[in-house]
Amino acid sequence: MLSKKVPFVTFRTRVRDESIEGPNPFRWEDKTSDDYFKGKKVVLFSLPGAFTPTCSTYQLPDFEKLFEEFKAEGVDEIYCISVNDAFVMNAWAKAQGVENVKVIPDGSGEFTRKMGMLVAKDNLGFGMRSWRYGAVINDGIVEQWFEEEGFSDNCESDPYGVSSPQNILEKLRAAKVQAA
Ligand code: BEZ
Repeated sequence: MLSKKVPFVTFRTRVRDESIEGPNPFRWEDKTSDDYFKGKKVVLFSLPGAFTPTCSTYQLPDFEKLFEEFKAEGVDEIYCISVNDAFVMNAWAKAQGVENVKVIPDGSGEFTRKMGMLVAKDNLGFGMRSWRYGAVINDGIVEQWFEEEGFSDNCESDPYGVSSPQNILEKLRAAKVQAA
């Protein structure tokens, strides 16, 4: 996975547009992998589903809180991706009150599949979703990779630790010390 270029896909996002009247002032806006990754150093973390407990209680809020510390390590953006559509991802970000972390809707699972991280979660009634992983990605190239152990379909457990913000931050700092 290291040094791999992220796949080029188009994400169907929904953005607020004040020129639209009525109760739902949002429109579709296509964003590509280049829009998210080109010319930036980012942390991407991927999880099995919006609104799920570990992701809502620990992972997303902890990334949100640690944003300034990631920035101090040269990270421009933190992205949270999930195989959920734009309506769900936006509703989750709103419910969580996130301002720093940006959500990416991979509703079709195309990005996740091309990253080799698509797994069945039919045992939970979820269908195809993402295995948990995180990555430090520089100008579209994966520099550091944080995949939870036990990659498998219909996994009965939900390992979480390697892709936590605390671990990724620690490894980013260690890489900086090593490079100095
Ligand atoms: C969780 O984040 O706790 C979770 C994720 C997927 C399925 C069930 C729970």
